[in-house]
Amino acid sequence: MRLDKLLANLQYASRKHVKKLARDGLISVNNTIIKDASQHVDPDNDIIEIGGERVIYYESLTLMMNKRRGVVSARMDDRDLTVMDDLEPVYQRHDLHIAGRLDKDTEGLLILTTDGKLLHDIISPKKAIYKYYEVIADKELKDVSRLEQPMTLLDGNNIPYECQPAIVEYHEGKQLVIGIKEGKFHQVKRMMHMLDANVVYLKRIRINNLPLDETLAPGEVKPLDEAAIKKLIE
Ligand code: URA
Repeated sequence: MRLDKLLANLQYASRKHVKKLARDGLISVNNTIIKDASQHVDPDNDIIEIGGERVIYYESLTLMMNKRRGVVSARMDDRDLTVMDDLEPVYQRHDLHIAGRLDKDTEGLLILTTDGKLLHDIISPKKAIYKYYEVIADKELKDVSRLEQPMTLLDGNNIPYECQPAIVEYHEGKQLVIGIKEGKFHQVKRMMHMLDANVVYLKRIRINNLPLDETLAPGEVKPLDEAAIKKLIE
């Protein structure tokens, strides 16, 4: 890959500015100053440095995050901290997209990926990937079998839509583990409203066959390998 393209992709500078940084002797490859930024490099094996900072480049990157409460699932926000703010700079430089947002007060499994196809597969209603949530409600939940029937809810624009039947994996008193296929605005909270209850705690614990790694501290991430990614979509 061309050095100027790689550094521009990682948002160090525009390609034009990267050329200037190279002319100014600020870029090295394998400890040799490179003046010509059009040179090709092998990001997996070459040691690339810019202004003395080691450059790490992942061709494709998928991260599992244990999202913490209080941050928003957005790439940027004017008011709140975002999940991106919790990433180390090496990951922040990659063009990561959020595969299925969680509310600000929801915690748990969030997937961030540079892979457009994977992103689509996780969130597309056609793929019908179940996402599982641990719910604690403000009162004992009654009549939970209603969740396993199609239900009409309002979406983010207050337009009614019929959501697919959920899977109730566990229920005891105020606690529930529920799997849903879609990821509509406040969907689980709205489903609980249909049972006349409010959600006081919500955590995504699994997507398809991939559970949250509970050893991740809130806000922490880990890269996923091919085997883990398969569990997300197969
Ligand atoms: N359903 C909700 O209500 N909130 C979430 O964050 C995820 C699913």
